Amino acid sequence: MEIISTLTLAIAASYIIWSCISLLQNYQKARRSGFPIFVCPANTNNLLWILFSVTLRPVLSFYLPKAVYDRIQPAIYGWEFLARYTVFDRLGPTFILVTPGKNELYVAEPEIAHSILMRRNDFAHLPLADRIIGIFGPNLITAEGDEWSRLRKVIAPLLNERISRSVWDESCQQAQEMLQHFTSRRKDSGAHDEQSADLGETRATIEGVRSIAINVIGSVAYGTPRSWHHRDAIAQEGFRLSYMDAILAIVENLVPATFVPITILTSPVMPRSIQRIGFAVKEFPVHAKKLLDDERNTSPASGQAKNLMSTLVKVSDAERHATTASSKGSYLSEHELTGNMFQFTIAGFDTTANTMCYAITLLAANPVWQIWIRDEIDQVVLHGQDGGYENLYPQLKRCLALMRTSFIPWSAGPRNCPGQKMAEVEFVAVMYTIFGKWKVEPALGKGESELEARQILEALMADSQPRVTLQMNRPREVKLRWQER
Ligand code: HEM
Repeated sequence: MEIISTLTLAIAASYIIWSCISLLQNYQKARRSGFPIFVCPANTNNLLWILFSVTLRPVLSFYLPKAVYDRIQPAIYGWEFLARYTVFDRLGPTFILVTPGKNELYVAEPEIAHSILMRRNDFAHLPLADRIIGIFGPNLITAEGDEWSRLRKVIAPLLNERISRSVWDESCQQAQEMLQHFTSRRKDSGAHDEQSADLGETRATIEGVRSIAINVIGSVAYGTPRSWHHRDAIAQEGFRLSYMDAILAIVENLVPATFVPITILTSPVMPRSIQRIGFAVKEFPVHAKKLLDDERNTSPASGQAKNLMSTLVKVSDAERHATTASSKGSYLSEHELTGNMFQFTIAGFDTTANTMCYAITLLAANPVWQIWIRDEIDQVVLHGQDGGYENLYPQLKRCLALMRTSFIPWSAGPRNCPGQKMAEVEFVAVMYTIFGKWKVEPALGKGESELEARQILEALMADSQPRVTLQMNRPREVKLRWQER
């Protein structure tokens, strides 16, 4: 017993000494840069810190003295949203966070951010972020240098105008199904069946919008369409989860999925929700391989590609055949194919889903903007335009403008977002479908005024945390009332 406690003490002491030395070395490096410095004793690269700091944030902020909490706050993932501009106000728009792990540069100045994004070879991704995003293989987001150029040449063209029509059609269909469900009295047994006795009142809007986004990706990227009502698709024989459910379980739990071994996640002593993550990690590569094999076996090489994945396979296989031993082609290895299949979801689902969730919640809290887009939609409909993407999308400028308000939202420079158009088309299609026929307001609680209900929505949006991207912590408290206009 004594040996164990001595050993524990020795390990703890060595860790503290090592941390102090690293902190000092990093501080010296940061000073040479000339930028303002914020010294933080917490190690942003420590696995335990990564796994638990976000969950522990409320406890730390409650129990620690304010000065101590303020000192470690910038080491907790997502601090920028909660602290807003306060740290920048104190230190200036650019500063270096010095920790015992790595120094991190924080920038709130568009010009500096822009020039960093233009010099991508000098500012590579954090290895930790790459490890998470590359969990199933190298992909466009994790690649650097020549590897990145090779992948970008193959992948970016897939996300072009050719897919816009299917993105539009699928998004309209999904949004229509969701709103019909919310505003119908029929109580079926679907996963979204959260309606109260009052027609149109629901706590399931956020979950429902996320389903729209995952279903659009499922259909456009992998050719696995499913109705909005049937979120939990039946798994194929030999699998516990369907392909899309496996992806969803991983994307929503990226940190444990990446860092906790499968055997621990799937252990029978774990709660079912944790086991599900483990099975998702275990099954995703098997699903992906099966999808790729099916794709190659069922569609002839010259046939029309049906979705992003099939186009990727075709382009890559064609390149592989054209590549001679002496020339280095741009085809993708099987591992890269799997990595890039996963990447479509990680890059395209959460981003678009959360943007739509905030937009709808904001519109519910600020009805004047609903009227603003509704006027535009009514004008377009009044002019009797045919309902297709080509005619409608270019006219819905206000719907698109709702999306454009943040600081370098699509990044800039060579690694800007190749999925921008896809996300914009999906967003506009969903807004057009919903607000062309329905309107939304906060559902009033007992004795609650409209103003109070709106303030609750504002507070729920303020209580957000980035996971892949920023999302609300209490989505089921977003209680909305949908009605036909
Ligand atoms: C509202 C929706 C979206 C937003 C705000 C967004 C934003 C971004 C940003 C800021 C980056 C740069 C990340 C970095 O520099 O590390 C990026 C990269 C990327 N995005 Fe998007 N994105 C969205 C939707 C999509 C969609 C729908 C797809 C495709 C299915 C997609 C695919 C990608 C890919 C593949 C990259 C990596 C590009 C590269 O490294 O060359 N994105 N996105």
